[in-house]
Amino acid sequence: MNRYWTLSDKPVGAWPDADTFVLREAPIPSPGPGQALTRTIYISLDPYQWGYKRRGAEAPGAPCHARTVSQVVESRIAGLAPGDVVFNTNGWSEYALMGEGVARPAYMIPRKLDPAQGRISLAVGVLGMLGLTAYAGMILLGDPKAGETAVVSAASGGVGQIAGQLARLRGARVVGIAGHADKCRYVTEDLGFDACVSHLSPTFAADLAAACPAGVDVYFENVGGAVFDAVLPLFNRGARMTICGLIAHYGDAPGVDARAALMARGAAIFAERGVSVRDLFVGDYVADHHDAFLAEVAPQVAAGRIRYREDLRQGLENVPAAFAEMLKGANFGKTLVQVSPDPTL
Ligand SMILES: NC(=O)c1ccc[n+]([C@@H]2O[C@H](COP(=O)([O-])OP(=O)(O)OC[C@H]3O[C@@H](n4cnc5c(N)ncnc54)[C@H](OP(=O)(O)O)[C@@H]3O)[C@@H](O)[C@H]2O)c1
Repeated sequence: MNRYWTLSDKPVGAWPDADTFVLREAPIPSPGPGQALTRTIYISLDPYQWGYKRRGAEAPGAPCHARTVSQVVESRIAGLAPGDVVFNTNGWSEYALMGEGVARPAYMIPRKLDPAQGRISLAVGVLGMLGLTAYAGMILLGDPKAGETAVVSAASGGVGQIAGQLARLRGARVVGIAGHADKCRYVTEDLGFDACVSHLSPTFAADLAAACPAGVDVYFENVGGAVFDAVLPLFNRGARMTICGLIAHYGDAPGVDARAALMARGAAIFAERGVSVRDLFVGDYVADHHDAFLAEVAPQVAAGRIRYREDLRQGLENVPAAFAEMLKGANFGKTLVQVSPDPTL
């Protein structure tokens, strides 16, 4: 039998709780022509998945969506053999089909992985769409220059840790914003950011201003809310802000437009200082920029010039708890769950 998590039939609340998900079982499916059966190894847990669920984007009873790293069990796809390791979208499920007729977001394109090119879990992390998000938002949109100040919120998380290091490699002075002290220490001591301030501190806004004595030229926004409000007065003339995500608002009531509210709060300063604000959707960059991103970032990861921390949990039964914890900041690094042995280790 195949075990997988779906949404329960209870109304989806602001944030996930013990009643939000149900573990179900069904026979393991057989691949048809042009399909392969794969066994999930790593499930990537990402904040956007909560948006899918709150918007009702997942079919009732279907496994919750997620990007995954999996191993081929049985294949009717040319060029894919049992034992091969792939990036795909098995969701919160032990087994799933990939290939012809299997629904997936258009830009999440399954591909065979070469374990010689790095740990296979990195395909849902720094060497996958997560890294591309950081690259597109920081390098292509933010375009930090040597000597400028770049600020990154959720700085110890999956995207934030990569975005900040990319800016540092461009010669910018990089300031992180993170939650508890261990995260801030990691951001400065392990990742080499120039400073990191905690948004949990009662003096957060003043701490951030003190950490950015020359103002802010590039802001990589992952959070919104009070974190954005603290960055806003620090923008320099000609600053660039990338809106990557607004996680502080992912539990807002339906119909509340957090981005519009943020833009309204920032309007006067954006206009007065010529701040350009760009929205980021990683799916827009896969086709044209994925190869350039990998060519630039993979060697830096291999050489240890870009460091990357995973928050690796174990066991399918722990997926909902790990997901809920990530949304509230109890993760430390990129969140993923291992649900079967990694044959490459
Ligand atoms: N635009 C795109 O295409 C795209 C693609 C991927 C990800 N994203 C976005 O990128 C952001 C980061 O995603 P990720 O996968 O890297 O997640 P992550 O940073 O690994 O985990 C989320 C982090 O957000 C922080 N956080 C949560 N609530 C907060 C609040 N109210 N105030 C301040 N910080 C809060 C927590 O860190 P602290 O403990 O440090 O506060 C938490 O660890 C998310 O907004 C996500 O939606 C966008």
